[in-house]
Amino acid sequence: MPIILSFWNTKGGVAKTTTVAHLAAFLAAQGKSVLSVDLDCCHLTETLLPNTDVAWSIQDVLHNIKTLEQITVTVSEKHQLAPARMELNTSLPSEVCVRLSDQLTQFSWADYILIDCPSAMTLPTRAALMAADYLFIPCQPSFHSINGVQQAIEMTEQIRTRFHCPVQIGGIFLTLVPYHQQATLPYQQVLQETYPRWMMSERIRYDPSLVNFPLFGSSIFSTRGNERAKNDYQLLGQAIQDRLKTDAGKKKPSLFATAGNRGAARRFVPLKEILSF
Ligand SMILES: Nc1ncnc2c1ncn2[C@@H]1O[C@H](COP(=O)(O)OP(=O)(O)O)[C@@H](O)[C@H]1O
Ligand SMILES: [Mg+2]
Repeated sequence: MPIILSFWNTKGGVAKTTTVAHLAAFLAAQGKSVLSVDLDCCHLTETLLPNTDVAWSIQDVLHNIKTLEQITVTVSEKHQLAPARMELNTSLPSEVCVRLSDQLTQFSWADYILIDCPSAMTLPTRAALMAADYLFIPCQPSFHSINGVQQAIEMTEQIRTRFHCPVQIGGIFLTLVPYHQQATLPYQQVLQETYPRWMMSERIRYDPSLVNFPLFGSSIFSTRGNERAKNDYQLLGQAIQDRLKTDAGKKKPSLFATAGNRGAARRFVPLKEILSF
């Protein structure tokens, strides 16, 4: 059964998409089977498969027209993508939360599923939180990004308690850390003091080579150069895996705790409540 990780901060431009793309590449280079899921109308798809017209998308899964297996495309041997198209956020049926969760938990090929969320609290974002085992929060050291962390934590806690979903906060990590970071130190300190349990010491530094890095057929881990980005995403990827291993032993039993009943239990989530929430 795959471990499902969602990446979300209500602030845009904090490297959610970039992180999913490069973390997925790192895990795949480590020999893990990874499915990355584009829930944010195609930025991840454009990054991983530039200049490719996808025939089917995650939208078709959410509309129950196709299964996840039918729409996934190959990025590399160990990396599959559930792509998105521009119109993802329009006219989604209410059942998407349960459907996404069901489809992802049954995708047994993957060791890890990484979901790239939109910044806004849209229906796809709720679906991503309800499907996830863990939420990881990328945060640029800036005022609005820190607000976004708090909003993401509050919403995740509400989803977890209200709908009995397993999602927990996996960790918070800094992104786009500037070379001259003096001005950003107060933000870093606030994060550390406010979220000592979740704040990770691994951080992604600003690296011009990451801007719009096309991954089609290659990744920062299979090309020369990009040493700073490689180093940072490697350390982050290892730290995330370590956190998941440590947490597995501590996990409290819940309605969803056993692999077999996880998807089934989520089906009992009252749809009306999700919509009115
Ligand atoms: N470490 C980094 N160094 C430099 N540029 C980055 C880095 N991470 C992301 N970017 C760039 O910042 C912009 C926003 O990143 P993106 O991943 O699209 O954010 P989000 O998905 O949170 O909106 C993109 O242009 C991306 O290429
Ligand atoms: Mg994005």
